[in-house]
Amino acid sequence: MSHYFDHEPAGPSDERSVEVTLPDLSFTMTTDRGVFSHGRLDTGTSLLLRTAPPLPATGDLLDLGCGAGPIALTMAHRSPGATVHAVDVNARARELCRRNAAALGLANVLVSAPDDVDPDLQFAAIWSNPPIRVGKPALHQLLGTWLGRLAPDGSAVLVIQRHLGADSLQRWLTDQGYRTERSASRAGFRVLSITTFGGSQPTER
Ligand SMILES: C[S@@+](CC[C@H](N)C(=O)[O-])C[C@H]1O[C@@H](n2cnc3c(N)ncnc32)[C@H](O)[C@@H]1O
Repeated sequence: MSHYFDHEPAGPSDERSVEVTLPDLSFTMTTDRGVFSHGRLDTGTSLLLRTAPPLPATGDLLDLGCGAGPIALTMAHRSPGATVHAVDVNARARELCRRNAAALGLANVLVSAPDDVDPDLQFAAIWSNPPIRVGKPALHQLLGTWLGRLAPDGSAVLVIQRHLGADSLQRWLTDQGYRTERSASRAGFRVLSITTFGGSQPTER
């Protein structure tokens, strides 16, 4: 059985255009079979893009698990002076995201396999619709690794389905020492906003 998080999806390509329409911008992207959310914009991704706070204007930003790239492309549109790193284990997803960025003239999107990102980079913001279906231990390891690369005053935004464990993930993040709040909740999805305690104004827990 194949999954959207396979490294090399099997099966023929079946490209479909998707309109991404947000209050501040709209664009068309290509999606494909074997890549998450074929032929549509995921409801959770749409909620994240509609509710996430403004991004830093400069610096390194991360879309963790970019798929065809709706999050990375939106980040790059909204912060043209920043560098958006789009990472995914799925080679077909990386190729699509690269092509989508090129078609939109977004030269500030850098697409790569996770292991190819400089481990010393610190991210001013991380946005992700994370791969919950990899299972809890793998998800915790993934988030632990990348959230650990947040800059001291950086922040992250994650969208997770409530019935796939959004609330227990929020508790886990808090236990890991992240200040985590539910910033939006709609249609069975939760948006979690995360900051580190290394920022200039840490709050009491
Ligand atoms: C829920 S999808 C989100 C895709 C896209 N951001 C969107 O919103 O449509 C999660 C993505 O994470 C990718 N993924 C799975 N394991 C990963 C890992 N270890 N590192 C990076 N990406 C991973 C999957 O291949 C998939 O494309």
